[in-house]
Amino acid sequence: MHSYASLIFLLFFSFLTSFGAYAKDPNFLYHSCPNTTTYSRNSTYSTNLIALLSSLSSRNASYTTGFQNATEGKSPDRVTGLFLCRGDFSPEVCRSCVAFSVNQTLTMCPDARRAVLYYEECMLRYSDNNIMSTLSFGGGYILLNANNISSNLEDRFGDLVSSTMNQAAVEAASSPRKFNATKAKWTTLQSLYVLVQCTPNLRRQDCLSCLQYSINGMALNSMGGRLLYPSCSSRYELSPFYNETSVSTQPHQQALPPLLPPSASPVASPPRSGKGGNSNMLVVAIVVPIIVAVLLFIAGYCFLAKRAHKNSDTQQAFDGDDITTEESLQLDYRTIQAATNNYSENNKIGRGGFGEVYKGTLSNGSEVAVKRLSKSSGQGDTEFKNEVVVVAKLQHRNLVRLLGFSLEREERILVYEYVPNKSLDYFLFDPTKQAQLDWTRRYKIIGGIARGILYLHQDSRLTIIHRDLKASNILLDKDMNPKITDFGMARIFGLDQTQENTSRIVGTYGYMSPEYAMHGQFSMKSDVYSFGVLVLEIISGKKNNSFYGTNGTHDLLTYAWRLWSNGPVLDLVDPMIVENCQKSEVIRCIHIGLLCVQEDPVERPTMPAIFMMLTSNTVTLQVPRQPGFFVQSRLEQDPLDSDQSTTSKYVSGSVNDSSITDLYPR
Ligand SMILES: *[C@@H]1O[C@H](CO)[C@@H](O)[C@H](O)[C@H]1NC(C)=O
Ligand SMILES: *[C@@H]1O[C@H](CO)[C@@H](O)[C@H](O)[C@H]1NC(C)=O
Ligand SMILES: *[C@@H]1O[C@H](CO)[C@@H](O)[C@H](O)[C@H]1NC(C)=O
Ligand SMILES: *[C@@H]1O[C@H](CO)[C@@H](O)[C@H](O)[C@H]1NC(C)=O
Ligand SMILES: *[C@@H]1O[C@H](CO)[C@@H](O)[C@H](O)[C@H]1NC(C)=O
Ligand SMILES: *[C@@H]1O[C@H](CO)[C@@H](O)[C@H](O)[C@H]1NC(C)=O
Ligand SMILES: *[C@@H]1O[C@H](CO)[C@@H](O)[C@H](O)[C@H]1NC(C)=O
Ligand SMILES: *[C@@H]1O[C@H](CO)[C@@H](O)[C@H](O)[C@H]1NC(C)=O
Repeated sequence: MHSYASLIFLLFFSFLTSFGAYAKDPNFLYHSCPNTTTYSRNSTYSTNLIALLSSLSSRNASYTTGFQNATEGKSPDRVTGLFLCRGDFSPEVCRSCVAFSVNQTLTMCPDARRAVLYYEECMLRYSDNNIMSTLSFGGGYILLNANNISSNLEDRFGDLVSSTMNQAAVEAASSPRKFNATKAKWTTLQSLYVLVQCTPNLRRQDCLSCLQYSINGMALNSMGGRLLYPSCSSRYELSPFYNETSVSTQPHQQALPPLLPPSASPVASPPRSGKGGNSNMLVVAIVVPIIVAVLLFIAGYCFLAKRAHKNSDTQQAFDGDDITTEESLQLDYRTIQAATNNYSENNKIGRGGFGEVYKGTLSNGSEVAVKRLSKSSGQGDTEFKNEVVVVAKLQHRNLVRLLGFSLEREERILVYEYVPNKSLDYFLFDPTKQAQLDWTRRYKIIGGIARGILYLHQDSRLTIIHRDLKASNILLDKDMNPKITDFGMARIFGLDQTQENTSRIVGTYGYMSPEYAMHGQFSMKSDVYSFGVLVLEIISGKKNNSFYGTNGTHDLLTYAWRLWSNGPVLDLVDPMIVENCQKSEVIRCIHIGLLCVQEDPVERPTMPAIFMMLTSNTVTLQVPRQPGFFVQSRLEQDPLDSDQSTTSKYVSGSVNDSSITDLYPR
């Protein structure tokens, strides 16, 4: 398709201008100048146009406001023009963008009576119509970030973008400059940045209509987007693309040296037909991943080639605001050493299957969790980096985010977002803290964990099997929302991924499904099993692998199954919460938990099904079969820390296989 080719060209052009030349050429975005209405060279119109361009760019004062309009000649050869600089740019940037666009337009749009040129920094427009009094949605142009928000967050994200932008639009329409730039919190680490602007000649209502029209025209499931119209433009991103300092301070008041009038003459310009078609055409730019890959490659290359070149934040729509690359993730070893006080004991906050975890504070004050991997990883550096990039791309509010890594000689470090509260087991299994988790909270935690696993299994681009879900791998943020950690560790550690059968078992007894513990067979259904154990633990407040029940039961699952079969089922519930719980919710959760821990993996529900069961009361639940479990003789160890246990035996139920006919037992 022709427009694709042009788009690729545009992308490369804007990309190279932002990365290649530090010479501060403005970043070209798009132009629209239909060749249907043209003027002839040496005509009065031509003379008027040149005079207009010169007059537009020669007014000193206009650069402080970022807007100027001008008119030359008399009808029918009258030409009206204007420029508008983006509200956050300094007068200097505005001035050079206008100079550049005035110079370029006669080359880009030779002979066209009407033209609009869009740059990141400014917009230049002229016409034989009186554009000052009309509102124009024509010749709009959409640019979308090629990354979409994951589908389960789309609605929430769309709501946030839409409400933030609409509020900014109202602010802008009422302000004299017809400009607003603002941000809103999206996640703990990410904010949404929006910028809206109209040409200041518009009336309040016209500005508002134009902006609302542009906001409605934008796909809100993308990680960033902008829509450019002659009368207004709007943009949102998940990274700060505008100058936050300048939007929060007063407009600049300094005077500037005069500008030379443009030197190009239309006669000298090589003819080049305008691109863009009729003025109502909406060019939708959706970039195919290949282009992004190529751009990323160039970005990486340029980044390496020009490390010192730090002003690369001028063009961001396509250079991957949030595209995770190895370069963007690699952190300096000394930074981490400093952040953790050289891994001081005081900073140690935990120990997992893969190494020790420290709390760190970076020089900018932000807190991180630093995991120092134990040295036994058999993986090469390249594979390690590749896997870190893959795992860092997994972003969900119920997953602890991997922020970066460091690699120095033998030392491998992973840096995570810091989650303030401790892990779930810290609260759940401590008689003095259990009460902090009432049923409502526990129910939310179950839902959050389910969302997180669902994302790992289904919504992320690849299927990630956690393989070590357990209460100590569920961290709680300050609002007690669960965040799963340690996912993707098998990948990062270079364990078998391709075969669904592994000799190296990553997991924790008590949470491992029988087929995984016995035969090393893992699948999404082994995570489902662990989830079931977690649910039963959350309900009962008891730990599966150190359970001493009444009537000789030695594990939580048998105990739960007995109560389910013979009642009273509510005896399973943590006495701390049983008084004030929603009985039907609790019983439904026990039911779901038991479905998850069934012996036959095929019988266990999938994560999407579990999610449905949790969120909708109308979904009918199957009758659970007896749990399958794996008993290890009272050894509480992470298998990675010790040799594979030889003292394990497989136990398949110790209760009668009585079939249950009531959906909910007494
Ligand atoms: C306008 O440009 C198109 C190509 O972009 C060309 O095919 C067409 O002939 C041009 N029309 C005029 C009137 O020059
Ligand atoms: C434009 O006018 C100049 C003199 O004013 C003349 O030399 C030139 O040939 C003219 N060009 C065209 C294309 O008519
Ligand atoms: C700009 O436009 C306004 C409104 O149309 C007009 O009053 C004013 O004279 C124009 N300014 C210039 C410099 O042409
Ligand atoms: C205008 O463009 C010409 C060549 O295209 C260049 O020599 C000149 O410096 C430019 N002027 C400005 C002000 O950028
Ligand atoms: C993003 O979503 C749009 C539909 O809104 C779809 O056409 C496009 O392929 C998606 N892009 C990616 C990279 O998933
Ligand atoms: C944008 O609007 C908000 C209020 O919603 C205001 O606080 C902020 O100062 C405005 N920003 C600019 C650049 O005008
Ligand atoms: C942002 O704006 C401030 C104040 O106008 C200016 O000092 C600073 O250089 C700008 N930063 C960038 C990156 O342009
Ligand atoms: C622009 O400013 C310079 C001094 O900075 C002054 O000499 C010149 O006359 C001004 N031009 C206009 C059109 O105001």
